[in-house]
Amino acid sequence: MEKILVLDFGGQYDQLIARRVREHHVFAEVLPYDKIAVDEIASQYCGVIFTGGPNSVYDPASPHYDPKILTLGLPILGICYGDQLMAYMAGGEIRSAENSSEFGKIEVTVNASSPLFAGLPEKSVCWMSHNDFVAELPKGFSTIATTEKCPCAAMSDEGRRLFGVQFHPEVTHTEYGKQMLANFLFRICGCKGDWNMEDFVAQSVEKYRRELAGKRVLCALSGGVDSSVAAVLLHRAIGDNLTCVFVDHGLLRKNEGDMVEEIFRRQFNMKLIRVNAEERFLSRLSQTSDPETKRKIIGEEFIRVFEDVGKELGKMDILVQGTIYPDVIESGKGDASTIKSHHNVGGLPDVIDFERIVEPLRDLFKDEVRATGLALGIPKELVFRQPFPGPGLAIRIIGKVTKDKADTLREVDAIFREELANAGLEQLPAQYFAVLTDTRSVGVMGDARTYGYTVALRAVTTDDFMTADWARIPYPVLERASNRITNEVRNISRVTYDITSKPPATVEWE
Ligand code: XMP
Repeated sequence: MEKILVLDFGGQYDQLIARRVREHHVFAEVLPYDKIAVDEIASQYCGVIFTGGPNSVYDPASPHYDPKILTLGLPILGICYGDQLMAYMAGGEIRSAENSSEFGKIEVTVNASSPLFAGLPEKSVCWMSHNDFVAELPKGFSTIATTEKCPCAAMSDEGRRLFGVQFHPEVTHTEYGKQMLANFLFRICGCKGDWNMEDFVAQSVEKYRRELAGKRVLCALSGGVDSSVAAVLLHRAIGDNLTCVFVDHGLLRKNEGDMVEEIFRRQFNMKLIRVNAEERFLSRLSQTSDPETKRKIIGEEFIRVFEDVGKELGKMDILVQGTIYPDVIESGKGDASTIKSHHNVGGLPDVIDFERIVEPLRDLFKDEVRATGLALGIPKELVFRQPFPGPGLAIRIIGKVTKDKADTLREVDAIFREELANAGLEQLPAQYFAVLTDTRSVGVMGDARTYGYTVALRAVTTDDFMTADWARIPYPVLERASNRITNEVRNISRVTYDITSKPPATVEWE
């Protein structure tokens, strides 16, 4: 199978590069630069991409690689730091000058006769983020792109199939980034582009069948898209050695628990244990109003429940989780700063009674997880369900969580979802829900003063949940939802609509 190696030097876009390659139906694998020796590369890969990184090549702490890689005869594309590293390894010079920094959208002029830029106009916009630049080209290289400030925005030694770009072709702001990557894969590496999600499923099934043979495996099923896909994938690999545990923490949406049970037990014929743990979760959650503490408590309590179930079942060796790539970065990958501890990553307690945690979707983006679900034959209704976070309603109830508040929010949320469905708008936002704020406000009903809670409705459009925009829901739909909520749900005196994008906000409120 043709594969591209994404050699990671600590850049923030490593998985995004891999995903952009997969979009062209070529399999890409990300490996940290210190996890693969140069002699192992040529036999496995048809091309290599060096990622960006935060360092400067002359910094003693900066990541370097064996320059022998440039002599393997394999096509290489260096991006940003990867470009500078390639130039440095080949004997060029890198310089840092304050007035040569470029950040954001910059106009680039390319030499369209280079195979990397075939089919591109001479001028277009690219995304830059650098202080250092290639000041002296290595022997055999020539400049193939420039910007106003950067004398070498891209370089190549075409004979040796070595290419470097100072900008980021993987980012959508680079107008022709997709075409550049296609040129690298098909014109330069000679890939065929016949990989697809069915292959990913087949490889994963084969891998887990081998790795988990004879193991007793527990899967944490939330009923959401990610854990459902992870469960069905593992079920296909190891059948009845997989037991799914569905924890009803009392923070699910209206009627959700019963629906999940119906789908997995009856439709997929899986071994499923439903644990009703509402009291256990709520009694701990009622102690704190800090969002991070709430997430940690939920993560920890989940694992404790699994351990208890494991004890009843006898020793379970492996825990499967539906973690996906955006969860990993948002929980702080490497030096990236922590935005939120997603309960299935950062919230894990130190001591876990399992040999190992398996996360089969850890490298995939949401839309790739959906494609995997379809390739596994999971019904569309489930695959395209809007995501529901592991901590459930707890991160949509601001402040302390109580059963009363969870029941209230369940009703409000169900009305909002019903009204979107009635208007045929279920597919417009990627995610939509209600939030119960901790703020009460004065209202009037009949002739009496009321003092109920304020709820916020939230609906967002997004492709990958890394960034999101608020959805333009038609006013009449919002109006109907608002009327019904204040009329049908006790103790709500005000309904607001959240019009913040991500960033600066996040999708969930906590
Ligand atoms: P944020 O709030 O981080 O949400 O912008 C992005 C996406 O991630 C979901 N989300 C979570 N999913 N565990 C999960 O399984 C979590 O702790 C968690 N926090 C947020 C959120 O619903 C949205 O789809």
